[in-house]
Amino acid sequence: MTDRLTIAIQKSGRLSKESMALLNACGVKFSVNEARLIAHSTSHPIDLLRVRDDDIPGLVMDGVVDLGLVGENVLEEARLERIATDSVAAYQPLRGLEFGQCRLSLAVPRESQYQSLKDLDGLRVATTYPQLLKRYLKDNGVNARTVMLTGSVEVAPRAGLAEAICDLVSTGATLEANGLVEKDVIFRSQAQLIQRADSLSEEKQAMIDQLLPRIDGVQMARE
Ligand code: PRP
Ligand code: ZN
Ligand code: MG
Repeated sequence: MTDRLTIAIQKSGRLSKESMALLNACGVKFSVNEARLIAHSTSHPIDLLRVRDDDIPGLVMDGVVDLGLVGENVLEEARLERIATDSVAAYQPLRGLEFGQCRLSLAVPRESQYQSLKDLDGLRVATTYPQLLKRYLKDNGVNARTVMLTGSVEVAPRAGLAEAICDLVSTGATLEANGLVEKDVIFRSQAQLIQRADSLSEEKQAMIDQLLPRIDGVQMARE
C-alpha cells in the first residue's frame, strides 16, 4: 500500500469551492463524485476526505488525516472545547489562506436598547460557538448565559430563546434579513491549512514541503 497523504476539506459550505480550487491551482487534480466521502487525486498519492467543517479540527488533532483546510473560527472553537475537556488539542498551523473571511459577531434585534457589552449581563446569547463566546464574555467581565444552537441561530431572538446572538457574519445579509444589528466583533477568521502534530513519513512530509511553496505562489499571484 502506498502512503497516501490525506487532506480533510469541507464537503459543502463557504470553504468547499475555494479549497478545491486552491488544490487544483497547486496542480493536485481531483475528480469529485458528489456522493462520495473520499476523492482520490488523479495526479498525486493524495486522498481528499470531504466532511463537515466542524469535524476537521478533530480529525487533524486525532491524527486521522494529515492535513485539514478549515476556518479559524471552527478551529479555535474546537481547540478551546478540547482544552476544556482535557483532550488532545495539538496541530501545526501551516498557512493562513486568503479566503473564507468572516467574523464572529454579537448582534441584537434592531429594537433592542443595547448600548454596550455590559447590557448583556443576565441575558441569554444564542450561538454555535459557545467556547469563543464564553472566553469573550469572561475577558470583558460580562455575565451572560450562552444558549447553544447548531444552526438557525439568527431566529433565536424572535423565537424567544435568547435576547442576543453570536454568529458568523460575512456580507451581513442574514442579520439584515432577520432584523438584527451587529454590535461587537469577537473573532476574525479566514481559512487555514493545518497539519497533524505528530511527524509523518518522509514521503508524506516531502509532498507537503512541495505543496507549501505552490500555495504561496498561488496566493502571491492572486494579490
Ligand atoms: C453563517 C452564519 C449565517 C451566514 C452569514 O452560516 O450562520 O447564517 O453565514 O453570512 P452573511 O453575513 O453573508 O449573510 P454558514 O454559511 O457558515 O452556515 P451554517 O450556519 O450552516 O454553519
Ligand atoms: Zn459548520
Ligand atoms: Mg448560518
